[in-house]
Amino acid sequence: MKRVITYGTYDMLHYGHINLLKRAKELGDYLIVALSTDEFNWDSKQKKCYFSYEKRKQLLEAIRYVDLVIPEESWDQKVTDVKEYHVDTFVIGDDWEGKFDFLKDEGVEVVYLPRTPEISTTQIKKDLNAKKN
Ligand code: CTP
Repeated sequence: MKRVITYGTYDMLHYGHINLLKRAKELGDYLIVALSTDEFNWDSKQKKCYFSYEKRKQLLEAIRYVDLVIPEESWDQKVTDVKEYHVDTFVIGDDWEGKFDFLKDEGVEVVYLPRTPEISTTQIKKDLNAKKN
């Protein structure tokens, strides 16, 4: 069984996220999503989530492409995760191009998928705010 892992925040789930998860699952048989905790988002990414970790996890678990959701609590956990979960392929959007190539040293295939154009959680928040004025 080919195991794939991806990382992200997945706040205010949108079709760009679904496209990424669908293509990620197509790379293997079992898809793990390492979902950023609220603390990790705030402390390391300076992002405040609209939906809590538990709510974001519940949404991801309802998606047919997702087999397992685990917490992402630090930048450094990837090497441990790929070993612990026997990961074959690491995948993420190409906004991170080149950033995780070090996982190849662990024998993991590293794939950067093109982002779906013109949609992001940040953009949705901006557009909704702009409409208020
Ligand atoms: N993603 C994508 N296409 C988009 C938006 C996101 O392929 N239009 C991918 C990202 O590259 C990442 C995953 O979805 O692999 C989770 O991205 P995340 O950063 O949580 O979503 P964004 O909508 O980009 O959120 P933000 O604007 O807060 O960065």
